[in-house]
Amino acid sequence: MKFVKANGESYTPDRFLSFNDVLLRPQRSRFNSRKDKDIKTCTKIGNTSLRIPIISANMDTITGSQMAIEIGNLGGLGILHRFYPERSKMSYDIQNLITYQKHIAFSVGYHNYHEIIDSVLSTIRLQSFDRSFKLWKSNLIICLDVAHSHMDKAIEVISDIKQKMNGILTEENRSKFDLIAGNISTGDAAFDLVEAGATILKVGIGSGSVCSTRIVTGHGSPQLSAIMEVKEALRHSPYSNVGIISDGGIKNSGDIVKAIAAGADAVMIGNLFAGCDETPGDSFSNENGTYKIYRGQASRGFMNEFNKEAAPEGETIVIKCKGPVANVIKDLEGGIRSGLTYSGAGDFTELREKAEFTEISHHGWIESTPHALNSI
Ligand code: XMP
Repeated sequence: MKFVKANGESYTPDRFLSFNDVLLRPQRSRFNSRKDKDIKTCTKIGNTSLRIPIISANMDTITGSQMAIEIGNLGGLGILHRFYPERSKMSYDIQNLITYQKHIAFSVGYHNYHEIIDSVLSTIRLQSFDRSFKLWKSNLIICLDVAHSHMDKAIEVISDIKQKMNGILTEENRSKFDLIAGNISTGDAAFDLVEAGATILKVGIGSGSVCSTRIVTGHGSPQLSAIMEVKEALRHSPYSNVGIISDGGIKNSGDIVKAIAAGADAVMIGNLFAGCDETPGDSFSNENGTYKIYRGQASRGFMNEFNKEAAPEGETIVIKCKGPVANVIKDLEGGIRSGLTYSGAGDFTELREKAEFTEISHHGWIESTPHALNSI
């Protein structure tokens, strides 16, 4: 990946950039159609292989077991959220994943993480025919979900979980385990969490559609640059294989292509999946249509429900119901395939090698969006 000036010179950007600040330069392609069977959208994040680079957000209005199973069937990954009001509901969702899924992915926070991991592992043991995990068929993914993970406590918890799992997993199934640490947005944070034991990093501070972290705290990094900084920090280290998830702010398939070209192995999506049939929560109707709630995990609505007292760093919004998530994925996948052909790439490795980013002007961006003058 490189940045190219209008005069053809390559350069390193001197400011932090977001998806809308850039475009990828079209390049000659050996693929004459996005349907070409040699175009591959598969990805490997840490030890986890996916057919499409898409992960549904571990938020309580996005990923319960129904969403995780469907996204898994479509080739991506769903990570269960960690805000279950009752442990029995989480166990039910874990059991569903064990029965129907090849990846069991769930989230923990600072509190009770030992207890939650033990309870998930005992559910897996009870349901698995080999109680020593030797013939374990599923990948196990634990996600430490903390808004600002570059904290002493998060680093401590990651190394504690790593140690715990090292004592449980056999050599054979260690390669079926991933530990996600997030969220971060700097190279220093990436290094500290990977040294503590993370195999995947979740990158994105304040980039999400219902996030107000940047407004409330004044902190964050524009998302495209955050991905590039983390990738660059790990590139020449022993940790160059650590997975990178770009989390938050994906508005369309073009953003996914840009995130991957910049160095991400997959993207995490909340908003684009909000309102899909498979999301948790009831829908409600009025004369204009049927809706579902989508809320930030630090929104006032969420915190009131869970009796948390803190300044909100998120919003609650209503989203028109969208039907099955398969329809959304179909469009995103088609867009990603098309994006690969525009860069003349057959897969994500080739995309990252070839990608040429250009910074665009404000008017360049306006021109990039639909702008018909005489629409009716
Ligand atoms: P999108 O843009 O797909 O982003 O809706 C989903 C991601 O947003 C993050 N998230 C939050 N960030 N305050 C924040 O600053 C919040 O209340 C909040 N809730 C979710 C999270 O990383 C998610 O995957």
